Amino acid sequence: MSHKVTVLPGDGIGPEVVAEAMAVLRQAGDIFGFAVDVEEGLVGGASIDAHGKPLTDEVLAMAKSSDAVVLGAMGGPKWDGLDYSIRPERALLALRQELGLFANLRPVKLFAPLARASTLKPEVVEGTDLVVVRELTGGIYFGQPKGVTTEADGSERGVNTLVYTTPEIERIARVAFDAARRRRGRVTSVDKANVLESTELWRKVVTRVRDEEGYGDVELEHVLVDNCAMQLIRDPRQFDVIVTTNMFGDILSDEAAMLTGSIGMLPSASLGGKVGMYEPVHGSAPDIAGQDKANPLATILTVALMLRHSFDQGAAADCIEQAVERVLETGCRTLDIAEGEAAVVGCKEMGERVRQEVTASQAA
Ligand code: IPM
Ligand code: MG
Repeated sequence: MSHKVTVLPGDGIGPEVVAEAMAVLRQAGDIFGFAVDVEEGLVGGASIDAHGKPLTDEVLAMAKSSDAVVLGAMGGPKWDGLDYSIRPERALLALRQELGLFANLRPVKLFAPLARASTLKPEVVEGTDLVVVRELTGGIYFGQPKGVTTEADGSERGVNTLVYTTPEIERIARVAFDAARRRRGRVTSVDKANVLESTELWRKVVTRVRDEEGYGDVELEHVLVDNCAMQLIRDPRQFDVIVTTNMFGDILSDEAAMLTGSIGMLPSASLGGKVGMYEPVHGSAPDIAGQDKANPLATILTVALMLRHSFDQGAAADCIEQAVERVLETGCRTLDIAEGEAAVVGCKEMGERVRQEVTASQAA
């Protein structure tokens, strides 16, 4: 069987980490008996430089006609001055919207050997295993009206609008409840219902989906976003599935990433349409781009998510995740997760070590 994958490495460290992850994917294909048919495209700043816009119709069509999309990272200081409508980040938002990817799964799992890599105490982060289910195509990122206008007195007015409709909330709630059933059966819905009407609706609809759609077996609690931000670093083990709005999910997932030692460890899967998109949570890290210093593990783990969610290759996904864990057990670290005496390796070497472990696991 062959899976058609659109690969969009993007900017900064994107190409480096994607190269390592794709090599792991091809290796998994050889072992588990599937082929990947890869088509590569430019996106973000790379596309702006070549075509004057962050996402071309050709690349969008390529993505739509594939089975899954692997994305690196987008953006960098070079393109920061551009108008919002043509910034690199726009490509990401357009892809999410055009592909109908309303559900973004961001698993936050601490690999035991990294308990000391976090800036938080090991006894706090140990055992962390949660998933942030972030709504991805609605909320303040997309709500109308938006923009900056000039008032009669010459002052400017900037507007973004936080909008959620019942169907948007219902479908993301279902994703969260279904995910909880496959895990520890607990959903924390995060809102700001004490202040924001649209999230008061969020709270009401999430509760109704649980009560009226047969999810009574799933435990549901509602937590305000400020409290959730605090609870995440006070006692992360209390969380199983966190379901929240687009912007709260963006912020809380960066915070939660630090529980795993580094944002360089966090994968994500964007689902809901025919084609899934898989992207590491981290950005393009222009400060270390092209220096073989980036951590490829988030992207390698992202490819594992693609195998599980888009290609029904659960065994291959498990194999890659276990290989990552074993590499970390040997003390091998990239710069972002380095501690004490541990041997620091580059991006390429880290990718190679994972592939060695994948091979070794098959020999055993
Ligand atoms: C993320 C990123 C993006 C977002 C940016 C790059 C548009 O921060 O995927 O978390 O805000 O969604
Ligand atoms: Mg983010």
